[in-house]
Amino acid sequence: MTDEPVTLDDDGFVVEDTGVPSHRSPAPAPGSGPLADRIDQIRRDFPARYSAPIIDQIRVELRSRLITDGTLLDPFCGVGGIHVLRDDGYDTLGVEIEPEFAACDARTTEGDSTRITSIPAMKDHVGRVRAIVTSPAYGNRFSDGYLGSDNEKCRRCNGSGQEPVAVNAVNSATRDCTMCGATGKAKSKRRGYAIALGRRTSPNSGGGMAWGPRYRSMHGEVIQQCDRMLEPGGWWMVNVSSFLNTDGYQPVMEWWLGAIARVARVDGLVAIETRRMKHGQNGDRRVPAEHLIIARSPTTIDVSGDPR
Ligand SMILES: C[S@@+](CC[C@H](N)C(=O)[O-])C[C@H]1O[C@@H](n2cnc3c(N)ncnc32)[C@H](O)[C@@H]1O
Repeated sequence: MTDEPVTLDDDGFVVEDTGVPSHRSPAPAPGSGPLADRIDQIRRDFPARYSAPIIDQIRVELRSRLITDGTLLDPFCGVGGIHVLRDDGYDTLGVEIEPEFAACDARTTEGDSTRITSIPAMKDHVGRVRAIVTSPAYGNRFSDGYLGSDNEKCRRCNGSGQEPVAVNAVNSATRDCTMCGATGKAKSKRRGYAIALGRRTSPNSGGGMAWGPRYRSMHGEVIQQCDRMLEPGGWWMVNVSSFLNTDGYQPVMEWWLGAIARVARVDGLVAIETRRMKHGQNGDRRVPAEHLIIARSPTTIDVSGDPR
C-alpha cells in the first residue's frame, strides 16, 4: 500500500521520490469467494466506466494530433475501458488499485499509480508512453464510501453472507455470497466504488476520497509519476468533471487543469455532454458537461538525460 512518507508541496506534488515500490501481488478479494465468480457483478456495478461519447472524443483528439499508434497508459484503469482503443491500433497499459476492478480485464495490472514507475510491469515503459489517457475519480458521491443500507438483507443469501454451492450431485457446500460480497446486506440502488466492491476502497484509492486536500495530494503524486512514464513530447488526455453538492460548485476540473499545466502545455479543453448530465432526478443539479483536458509534455531532453 502507499502510506509511505513522501514530501508534498502545497498543491500535493511530491518533492522527493522515495522510490518505494508499491505493487501488490494479486490477492483474492477480501472476505469474498473466488474473484472470478464476482467479475460479472462487479462489471455491472462499476459506477464510472468510460462512456461512448468520451471514448469517441478521445479517438478524435488522438487522430487530429496524428497520434495513430504507440502506447496509451491509463493509471486509473477501473474495469479496463481504455483497452477498447487496441482496436484502433494502439497498445494499451492500465494500472488499477482495486484487485477486483483490475481482474475485470487481464490486460490491466493491479497496483497503486502513486508509485507507477516502480510497478514491475511498468518499468520497461518508463519514458516510452505516447499518451496518458485516463479518467480519475471526481471526488463526488461515487467516492463517499457508502456501502448500502444496514437494514436490508441481501436477496440471495438472506443476510447470512453465505450461499450454497453444489460440490457434486449429492453434496453441497457454502461459499461467500457472490451477490453481496459476504456482507449479507442488500446492494444499494445508489452507485459508488465501495458499493461495487462490497467493501471499503483501498486506503490510497481516489475512489474513496472526497474532493479536498487528500484527493489533491494523491492525484498530484500520480501526475508526477505519470509524467515520468511519458516519452518526450508525450500527451495527456484527462477526462474529468467538476460537480455540484450542497456546498456548491466543486472545481475538480479546474484543479486538474492547473495540475496538468505544471508538467505539460495545455493544448485543448473540450466540453463533452454525456447522458448522465441532464437526465433523471437532480438533472438540474449537475454541471452542464464533463471535460477532456489535452496537454503536451516538453519535447526536449535535458542534459542529465531526464526526459523532462
Ligand atoms: C473513474 S474510474 C476509471 C474508469 C475507467 N475509465 C473505466 O472505463 O473502467 C477511476 C479508477 O481509479 C482507480 N484508482 C483510484 N486511485 C488509484 C490509485 N492510487 N492507483 C490506481 N488506481 C486508482 C479507482 O479504483 C477507479 O477504478
